[in-house]
Amino acid sequence: MSSEQVFVVTGANKGIGLALATQISTTSKVIATVRSKEGSKSSALFKLNNVEVVELDVFSESSIDAAVKEIETLAPTGIDGIWNNAGVYNVGKADVNMAPVDFGSLQKEITTNAIGPAYLTSKLVPLMEKRTTKKVMFISTLVSSFSLVSDMKDMIDNLSLAYTYSTSKIALNFLAFFLHHHLSKKGFTIIILHPGVVTTDMAKEAIPEDATNIDQSFETLTPDQSAEKLLQTVKELDSKKSDYKFVLTNYDGSILPF
Ligand SMILES: NC(=O)c1ccc[n+]([C@@H]2O[C@H](COP(=O)([O-])OP(=O)(O)OC[C@H]3O[C@@H](n4cnc5c(N)ncnc54)[C@H](OP(=O)(O)O)[C@@H]3O)[C@@H](O)[C@H]2O)c1
Repeated sequence: MSSEQVFVVTGANKGIGLALATQISTTSKVIATVRSKEGSKSSALFKLNNVEVVELDVFSESSIDAAVKEIETLAPTGIDGIWNNAGVYNVGKADVNMAPVDFGSLQKEITTNAIGPAYLTSKLVPLMEKRTTKKVMFISTLVSSFSLVSDMKDMIDNLSLAYTYSTSKIALNFLAFFLHHHLSKKGFTIIILHPGVVTTDMAKEAIPEDATNIDQSFETLTPDQSAEKLLQTVKELDSKKSDYKFVLTNYDGSILPF
């Protein structure tokens, strides 16, 4: 690969990840990761130019290690950044009443949504150090905000807002914060983002079609609209600027409360 910008996008076979990979590939190289090439073979990802596809399961340390080796081979002169997008919602269908707390689902969700992305990022630091951009994006969510979720009692009771998901994304926010603490000294910009309420498979699962009490004030975005706004928002953010603050950033650049 040449000296043009190179970005890694995880979970790129569909949804927001596919939209990000599609838009980024118009100006930069993309190393797009999918959990399984066989399982995603019908994805439009494989028709894009400027894209290399690598298998990576963020739930698995050995899969991440193998993917990092492949990325090192594909991008020996370094990568500019990573979009940690892959994630799951309420994988084990945990009982909303926490009776009992779902040990296995929490373990799986925290590993997939928080530990995997943080581990992958730390393993890609040497490749990012070869470039000046050094941007790490973590796709978090508005429901990782304690102050927002504590006002969503109806959603918690009636829409099964999954405690497993919010807990895993809060863990992600904190891992991102600690990475920010250590890496911003070396010129890295670490950004946590809410992508909006986006019409993907995950949103269909999280928000039942018959839901009547969802807050109508949430704007609904297509994956393409979300990706466009996310890309615009991160363009402006740089930890080397004096006004840079580590916050939970909304897709449109506004700041959400933690
Ligand atoms: N949609 C929303 O309204 C919304 C709101 C807030 C935050 N988010 C966040 O946005 C991100 C993208 O979600 P989406 O809405 O685009 O959902 P999606 O269409 O369901 O896509 C999820 C992606 O994550 C991948 N993935 C899941 N588990 C994985 C694993 N163990 N290893 C590697 N990849 C894995 C999926 O791959 P497979 O196809 O192989 O499963 C898929 O590519 C997630 O982090 C999600 O939490 C979404």
